[in-house]
Amino acid sequence: MLATPSAPLKHVVVAISGASGAVYGVRLLTLLRNIGCVKTHLIVSEAGWLNVAQELDDSRADVLALADVVYPVHVVGAAIASGSFQCDGMVIAPCSMRTLGAVAHGLSDNLITRTADVMLKERRRLILMVRETPLNLAHLRNMTSVTEMGGIIFPPVPGFYHRPQTLLEMVDHSVSRVVDLLGLPQEHAQRWAGLSTKI
Ligand SMILES: Cc1cc2nc3c(=O)[nH]c(=O)nc-3n(C[C@H](O)[C@H](O)[C@H](O)COP(=O)(O)O)c2cc1C
Repeated sequence: MLATPSAPLKHVVVAISGASGAVYGVRLLTLLRNIGCVKTHLIVSEAGWLNVAQELDDSRADVLALADVVYPVHVVGAAIASGSFQCDGMVIAPCSMRTLGAVAHGLSDNLITRTADVMLKERRRLILMVRETPLNLAHLRNMTSVTEMGGIIFPPVPGFYHRPQTLLEMVDHSVSRVVDLLGLPQEHAQRWAGLSTKI
């Protein structure tokens, strides 16, 4: 736990959509929980649950237990769907091309895309861990649109310079950069200390 008891509480929305990489959402929830001053609000799309089942050993209950508040994806009347809710940031981890497209076009067709729309209109931090490969022109244009609106496109592309030994290390490397982008403190993030002199 990093935060002192007096640290102000931060509200962060985490959405898991139906792209491959449900582990990114799960690890993000875990890292945010460890920070100690963050209240997490979780939304999982129907396709997101398919990928949790396909890719992880965690049950639905395991994933839900990582969050402080959980919302069904179709309940667009939830508190977080309003700009009056004082939210400090939102991360869609992973973000499917469908959800990216819906955000890019302001569709607000479920609670994930509505909350993302609110983040953009209120000029708050919105991070999309987009995952697809290769990318077609629609994907690229949608990423450009979201960037123009102030969102951050963060494909979880692993780096190898820190010599990851496990899948979890690769995942956490990306997720801890996202936590940095949210402006939250973290104790165990790996930091680049310059090139090795062995070259
Ligand atoms: C096993 C599996 C893997 C998928 N991987 C991806 C992916 O990496 N990227 C993507 O954009 N869509 C992927 N999809 C397709 C999305 O789940 C699908 O477009 C869905 O409609 C997205 O809905 P959502 O954005 O509401 O979660 C995958 C689907 C399945 C079943």
